[in-house]
Amino acid sequence: MPGQPRGRSTLNGSSQASACDICGRYCKIQWVNSSSRKAEDNVTLEDRLFGRFSRSSLGLITLLGIGSVAYSVAIEPRILRLRQFRTGIPGLPAELDGLRVAFLSDFHVAGPGRGASLTQQAIEIVAQERPDLVLLGGDYFDKGRWDDSSKVFDGLTAFSNVIGVLGNHDQKGGKHVAERVRQGMARRGAVILQNSAISVRVRDCDVTIAGVDDPYTNHDDLEQTLRGNPWPLILLAHAPVIETSLEPGMAGLVLSGHTHGGQIRLSPAKTLTPLDSTFYLDRLVGRRISKYQRGFHWVNGNLLYVSNGIGTTRLPIRFMAPPEVTIFHLSKNAPHPDQACDAAARYVEDIG
Ligand SMILES: [Fe+2]
Repeated sequence: MPGQPRGRSTLNGSSQASACDICGRYCKIQWVNSSSRKAEDNVTLEDRLFGRFSRSSLGLITLLGIGSVAYSVAIEPRILRLRQFRTGIPGLPAELDGLRVAFLSDFHVAGPGRGASLTQQAIEIVAQERPDLVLLGGDYFDKGRWDDSSKVFDGLTAFSNVIGVLGNHDQKGGKHVAERVRQGMARRGAVILQNSAISVRVRDCDVTIAGVDDPYTNHDDLEQTLRGNPWPLILLAHAPVIETSLEPGMAGLVLSGHTHGGQIRLSPAKTLTPLDSTFYLDRLVGRRISKYQRGFHWVNGNLLYVSNGIGTTRLPIRFMAPPEVTIFHLSKNAPHPDQACDAAARYVEDIG
């Protein structure tokens, strides 16, 4: 056939020892045919390699997924961390330098997961650390299922200064349930503040602790909480949405929980991102959303800390947000005075 390369190349596709019928040499037609064949071979090889890579990647992703789910269900919710921070409080009286404050939040006893056993474990850890104050962030029983026969919080009677606030789960059953929680915690030695403040004597100093009722469910009244009271060393608010009500220097330290550190998240950021499960959940239920999800933040002249809490709600799962007991070692000096005065990093040193 004219223009068709001769020899074996025409029959079996090999380009070797082939020449054009017209010119008898290796002409353009020959070259194009050979090149097309090589390209075809290359594409096939790439396809094969890509196919193998895809299968390997898919296998690896599946393994990682299974491993992450197993870790989130069986391991992380059980790892109760003791976190300790040296925390600079501007204007802290010299007598209170070194004051140690324990903060526990979001116990969710009787909820999904291990809220009860972790709570007892947390109280034991605090007992070993012997802090000057024990502060509680609310959500004692999941979904307001307060059980007065439970002994989970009985260990709090060992401490002399236990002060707390209510969370949104303590408010779920209405006022009478919230009152049962308040009275039940009072029988266990804890003073529950509902838009009020209390002064306690610590290290020969009067220390004011203020506590708003749950801001997530709009029970907070910060003006009433602070009215007529001395400057609070610590302001307790179950949910960090209290941030919107803070005015410069309202308290030495503001402590919140509620977010559970995101409970399930993929974001490394301390503020809310679409990689936090709460980004969607709070929108679904139409609740107030705080951008502060975990850790320290400097908010309008106030140092805010948001705890990961202890128990779990909705699902017995945690990912990148392990439960924690937090102890603050208050200091009259900022640990990092070289940092900007409006940066949380100036006032905080992680001491393990
Ligand atoms: Fe909670």
